[in-house]
Amino acid sequence: MPHFQPKGGWIEIICGSMFSGKTEELIRRVRRAEIARQHVQVFKPKLDNRYSVSEVASHNGEQTPAEVIERASEILEILRPETTVVAIDEAQFFDAQVADVARILADRGLRVIITGLDLDFRAEPFGPMPLLMAEAEMVDKLHAICVVCAAPASRTQRLINGQPANYTDPVILVGASEVYEARCRDCHKVPGRPELVRNE
Ligand code: TMP
Ligand code: MG
Ligand code: ZN
Repeated sequence: MPHFQPKGGWIEIICGSMFSGKTEELIRRVRRAEIARQHVQVFKPKLDNRYSVSEVASHNGEQTPAEVIERASEILEILRPETTVVAIDEAQFFDAQVADVARILADRGLRVIITGLDLDFRAEPFGPMPLLMAEAEMVDKLHAICVVCAAPASRTQRLINGQPANYTDPVILVGASEVYEARCRDCHKVPGRPELVRNE
């Protein structure tokens, strides 16, 4: 939660592995904002239709209504004049422009709450999340529990037919516990991952 009250608008990020409670925390912050009589609009990408098409839903079954968009710039088009808080779930699925949209809203004085996976199944930075985390005033990294060893989990293991997915597999694969589990750095496996991922 924001420990400090910035002047004007700001951006707060809730990131971490799958099953770490990101959406649960987003819903909690949205509820509290509504209790404080703020006007909240919640957005989510169309890509993610796992539990509900018009709701943001956590793995534990909590949900709140959401506006489904394909591109982050749609937020600027459908923003209501009275809105003071914008929440975006699953931001890793948007393109880099989501960082521009977040900045524009915060510059206008809005509170922007964003959740997303900081890392994909390969443990590589996911989409626009590094940009958003750099731009934000506040970043919370939540942890799940490693299903192998019960340590705090910072990573998401993708399993295909029970086997760790290869480094070269496509990054986007919408799913929940049938394909993914939370793991710590030590138990997380990425067959085919080169030692040096980035060229000089
Ligand atoms: P969650 O963070 O709310 O659990 O949702 C994460 C979504 O991202 C889920 O639909 C699975 C998807 N995903 C990918 O597309 N690629 C990945 O590498 C990972 C880890 C998750
Ligand atoms: Mg979620
Ligand atoms: Zn572990």
